[in-house]
Amino acid sequence: MSWSSAERAVLTRAVGEAPSVHNLVPWTAEIRAAGADLYDHAGARRRRHDPAGRDRVISGGAALTNLELALRALGWAPETVLLPDAGRLDLLARVTSPHRHEATPEEVRHYSAIYRRHSYRSPFAVRAIDEQERRRLAAVSDGAMGRILDPAAESAPLAEFLSHAGQAPRDDVAYRRELRAWSSPFGEPHGNSALPWAHLPDTATLAKRLAAEALVLVLTPDDTRRDHLLAGHVMEQIWLAAVARGLAGSVLTRPLRLHQVRAGLAAELGLAGFPQLILRFGYPVTGPRS
Ligand SMILES: Cc1cc2nc3c(=O)[nH]c(=O)nc-3n(C[C@H](O)[C@H](O)[C@H](O)COP(=O)(O)O)c2cc1C
Repeated sequence: MSWSSAERAVLTRAVGEAPSVHNLVPWTAEIRAAGADLYDHAGARRRRHDPAGRDRVISGGAALTNLELALRALGWAPETVLLPDAGRLDLLARVTSPHRHEATPEEVRHYSAIYRRHSYRSPFAVRAIDEQERRRLAAVSDGAMGRILDPAAESAPLAEFLSHAGQAPRDDVAYRRELRAWSSPFGEPHGNSALPWAHLPDTATLAKRLAAEALVLVLTPDDTRRDHLLAGHVMEQIWLAAVARGLAGSVLTRPLRLHQVRAGLAAELGLAGFPQLILRFGYPVTGPRS
């Protein structure tokens, strides 16, 4: 089987739309006869900021979700092997598509959400996420390593940890310099933060604002490269499902790079796994970008 140039363009474009840490696009997709190989782009290494390459591999996982959805949109059933070659750790995944499969309406909706998803960096609409929407998100997240936070009980501890994380980089000149070097191309209004506030408000106000959002923590059983890949894969699935339902969202990993925050959050919320990232969802003020 060989791809037409239009099909190749569908696959390449979908992969290129995935979110990535600092917009580094740290992967390469090599389109093959019956699928594609996805490589980690080690040249995008950020030694200080992401020494273990966790965010890079999470980003690769998001690209993998888009690749699979694009194959589905083209009428194939993708089969994926993660880290298929122990001798080539940069080969994140091999995706083949041995069987035809007509995409379900939901798969088509999620595929088209790839082009409407972006990191939403403005304040969400005043209307709080309602319980029904929260339950729908929980249904997508549960069993897929996502854990939706209880707004009443868990917004306050999260606000405490985010406030702590918001302070930490101020003392860390090298970390700040690295972030500054990457911040200008992103067009982010308030520095490099998915949180829309130029300065974090006091903890009580932050907790109140967080309680109006839907927050999903993506957890993995272990903290290996494979776990990071799976976390990114699941992150993008949840994000696209939310966008398909008209929500807007953003992702935070920066606070979790601080050991005290990551370990503290796991202990405080009784998390059954390693927290890899936090997704925030709300209603967009102006509607998603198309
Ligand atoms: C693994 C990963 C970690 C990220 N961490 C953060 C973060 O901590 N703070 C933030 O503001 N954005 C974060 N982002 C969002 C990226 O900056 C964003 O995806 C990128 O700039 C591309 O923009 P887009 O999502 O609008 O396509 C992260 C994205 C990924 C994939």
